[in-house]
Amino acid sequence: MSTSTTSAPAPAETLPIRTVPDPVLRARTRPVGPDDASEVRALIPRMLATMYAAPGIGLAAPQVGSKLRLAVVDLHPDDQPSPLVLVNPEIVAKSEETATREEGCLSIPGQYADVTRPAQVTVRYQDAEGKRHEITGEGLLAACLQHEIDHLDGVLFVDHLSSLKRNMILRRLAKEQRERRQKRGDDDF
Ligand code: NI
Repeated sequence: MSTSTTSAPAPAETLPIRTVPDPVLRARTRPVGPDDASEVRALIPRMLATMYAAPGIGLAAPQVGSKLRLAVVDLHPDDQPSPLVLVNPEIVAKSEETATREEGCLSIPGQYADVTRPAQVTVRYQDAEGKRHEITGEGLLAACLQHEIDHLDGVLFVDHLSSLKRNMILRRLAKEQRERRQKRGDDDF
């Protein structure tokens, strides 16, 4: 029996973030169905905790090793937490007008590049309770929605770049990862 009435629920544990070239980042996800309810309920708070801890403004299930069609986004409007949980999101409309902005990805750490995408998109999705919604975003929200939905189709932001730029970024990342591993090795003494 517990007499404590004021303690907040324990914060959800974070999950390790997968980075390239982990093949789970290239796998297509499968739609969340009724049988996935308990897994999704467990995953959402942990994905949000992982995104906030990183910190990032979006995180897709493959980035934490899950193959479910699920992503979380929080752009912190007005500096307040405002989590958006996207279950089975699909882009149903996009503008012809495009916009270019710098993107990065928690799975391609420390690398950034300008990406051109439709300036406005409409996304249909379900929330954590399975209720259907539609959201139309532009600016950062449009880029973020497209970036996360790309993840659910095994696509990374570097795939929108020329192969020259993409290879440059991936080579630079591999070199940095190698150097970090070597440094850790040295520190092991
Ligand atoms: Ni990403």
